[in-house]
Amino acid sequence: MLKVIIVAGARPNFIKVAPIIAAMRRRPKDFQPILIHTGQHYDAAMSDAFFRDLEMPEPDVDLGVGSASHAVQTAGIIQAFEPYVISERPDWVVVVGDVNSTVACALVCAKLDVKVAHVEAGLRSRDRTMPEEINRVLTDQIADLLLTPSSDADENLRAEGIPPERIRFVGNIMIDSLLANLERAKRSTARADLGLVNKDYAVLTLHRPSNVDEESALVRVIEALEEIARRLPIVFPAHPRTRKMIEELGLAERVENIKGLILADALGYLDFLQLLSGARLVLTDSGGIQEETTVLGIPCITLRKNTERPITIEMGTNKLAGAEPAKIVAAANEALDNPPDKAALRIPPLWDGRTADRILDALLQNPER
Ligand code: UD1
Repeated sequence: MLKVIIVAGARPNFIKVAPIIAAMRRRPKDFQPILIHTGQHYDAAMSDAFFRDLEMPEPDVDLGVGSASHAVQTAGIIQAFEPYVISERPDWVVVVGDVNSTVACALVCAKLDVKVAHVEAGLRSRDRTMPEEINRVLTDQIADLLLTPSSDADENLRAEGIPPERIRFVGNIMIDSLLANLERAKRSTARADLGLVNKDYAVLTLHRPSNVDEESALVRVIEALEEIARRLPIVFPAHPRTRKMIEELGLAERVENIKGLILADALGYLDFLQLLSGARLVLTDSGGIQEETTVLGIPCITLRKNTERPITIEMGTNKLAGAEPAKIVAAANEALDNPPDKAALRIPPLWDGRTADRILDALLQNPER
């Protein structure tokens, strides 16, 4: 029996942790899971809704760290997490993704000589201005077991000198949640609530500091939206960070005046999945949504200059449009004019809904340090 602490901190973490916990609960002879929520995301829309929608157990511990600067938040998680690792002495700690909670908890384990496994290891944007890129590089250097979603990730790790025995290609855990919940998401009322039943629409999400923290960057995105919204309605479930920045930068009136833009609060998992699965087009700066649209066969325009998920571009659903309004509008028009052939849909290897069990098998094999 392995005692495993599983760490979840922010919205995308909950989606990745849910299938791992569910799989451990199906194998109680082999696994004793302990779920620790760092509290990086804490409000009803960013956290509680995901626990409910993903049918996750209440966390065993909530560190309640909350929002702060990167240094204060990361340090707070390190300080609050360490005593639990010391008192529980788990066989493994599992961290997922690339958020501040991921690197903070991995560092605690490395210093205590407790084995740590990183799910979604090896992704690289090669853009060190992204806080997530720093978190990825550091976590992979100190983790004992690197569980990768795609073969490009294996290559990145080998190129950084990570010994091959620490790397295991297990597939994409986000897709376990996606496939497990598509049917349930059909029962959501999100599309009806937004007046979009039987309508063509686009979905927009935006929260990266590079797009929303500076007025000139946010204005460039708004200019593109003003054009695209002439062609079809755009639903925009806004991240709390983005809402705050729109207000602070004095852009609220301009955004509200875009005819065709439907501004909504951040949505729960099932509501968002329903909206996403019926969209003609997706505009996003999220990492996970680039992957979900690949499996759903929906054109995705990524509002960034780079991606740590190049396989989504290779599969043909995702296009990098950067931050220039003309380029974003041209990419959107091109995607709308040439809808994808769903029969020719390509899905990367091991994005099959069974990644959680492969992760559990890798933990059981228990490589020595
Ligand atoms: C974090 C992750 C990012 C991930 C994103 C998903 C890091 C470095 N970034 O970014 O990789 O894609 O989560 O959402 O870890 N806020 C709330 N309520 C909450 C949480 C946040 O209102 O429950 C607001 C606060 O004003 C906070 C801001 O959002 O200051 C930013 O939150 P934070 O978790 O620091 O970073 P994200 O931008 O959400």
